[in-house]
Amino acid sequence: NKYATILAGGGGTRFWPLSRQEIPKQLLNISGNDIMLNDTIERFKGIIPQENTVIVTNRTQAVLLESIMHSSVQKSNILIEPVARNTSASILFAAFSIQQMSEGDSLMVVLPSDHYITDEPQFRLTLDEACTVAMESDAIVTIGIKPTFPSTGYGYIAYDKEPIAVKPVAVYDVAEFVEKPDFKKAQGYLASGNYLWNSGIFIWKTSVIIDNFKRYLPRLYNTMLPISEALGTDQEQETINRIYPLLQNISIDYGILERSDEVVVLSGQFGWNDIGSWDALGAIFPPDDEGNIIKANHVGIDTRNSIIYGNGRLITTIGVDSFIIADTGDAIMICPKDKAQSVKDIVDLLKDKG
Ligand code: GDD
Ligand code: MG
Repeated sequence: NKYATILAGGGGTRFWPLSRQEIPKQLLNISGNDIMLNDTIERFKGIIPQENTVIVTNRTQAVLLESIMHSSVQKSNILIEPVARNTSASILFAAFSIQQMSEGDSLMVVLPSDHYITDEPQFRLTLDEACTVAMESDAIVTIGIKPTFPSTGYGYIAYDKEPIAVKPVAVYDVAEFVEKPDFKKAQGYLASGNYLWNSGIFIWKTSVIIDNFKRYLPRLYNTMLPISEALGTDQEQETINRIYPLLQNISIDYGILERSDEVVVLSGQFGWNDIGSWDALGAIFPPDDEGNIIKANHVGIDTRNSIIYGNGRLITTIGVDSFIIADTGDAIMICPKDKAQSVKDIVDLLKDKG
């Protein structure tokens, strides 16, 4: 029994004004293909039965989802969190729910909903192998990506030099997992050649992850136990609403990945991109001869290396280099490309102003 768990509770504030509180980035069609969430479900076709898709999200998004959701997802498989308590809570909630659905142990594949992957056949091959490794062991299976710059926004995985397996994909024991290191450390990790980025995709048996919760996050586990017992009864909703606000707010990376010693990593080479901010659009759309990515009705003179995103009205630029311009009709955001991460500060500022 294989289940996919898609985490779709994040806000994606760095895509403002395209993403809003009501419409986070996983519900945006950024690739021009489909919304990112549906792309995520399409991507594991043939590896995990699509009807075994569980989505963990919040109430506002769940309402939106009903109209745009991938047709294979059953409404009862959308788990709604009354308040966001970070990924550890979401994952344990999903693990309990999957146990209840399948009445026994299952394989659980956790997927974030904010990724873009260019080589999908290679992704499926890697995921399939990861499932085999997780099925045949009691390991936490991660998929690592070769780092290309000293990002402070990712987890880093140090792996043992000698692989456990090499075919069809290299598998290594994990020596150390470090979530979001500071810049200096990230530079060192990159230079050492011994670290991979954590892709945020995890594969394990439900029994294995639940054991890890008991061991490393016992308070969260114990607080959540009443939810597990109430699932499928008429107390379910009331219990979720009562318990959720009490849960510890910690990500799975800090809570379990950094602490557990039974972690393995597969080397993922399938063109992975975390589409976290405007500057990441370069990973989806090849720039034109001037280095621009233009998704707008645009006329420009001497405009280079810029990202211009519009909603139909004419945007004109003169003498613009390395800027992001995003126009959604009701708001315009303009910033230099190297400030793309600061777009979330504008969202905070707007929140403060009410
Ligand atoms: N349902 C739900 N509830 N989903 C959540 C919540 C929550 O409270 N918090 C986050 N998520 C979802 C996000 O929507 C996203 O799909 C996924 O969980 C990961 O959360 P992010 O907030 O995007 O994490 P991150 O990008 O900072 O870091 C993680 O991903 C990196 C790779 O993209 C970590 O796992 C890093 O180690 C990793 O490198
Ligand atoms: Mg992310």
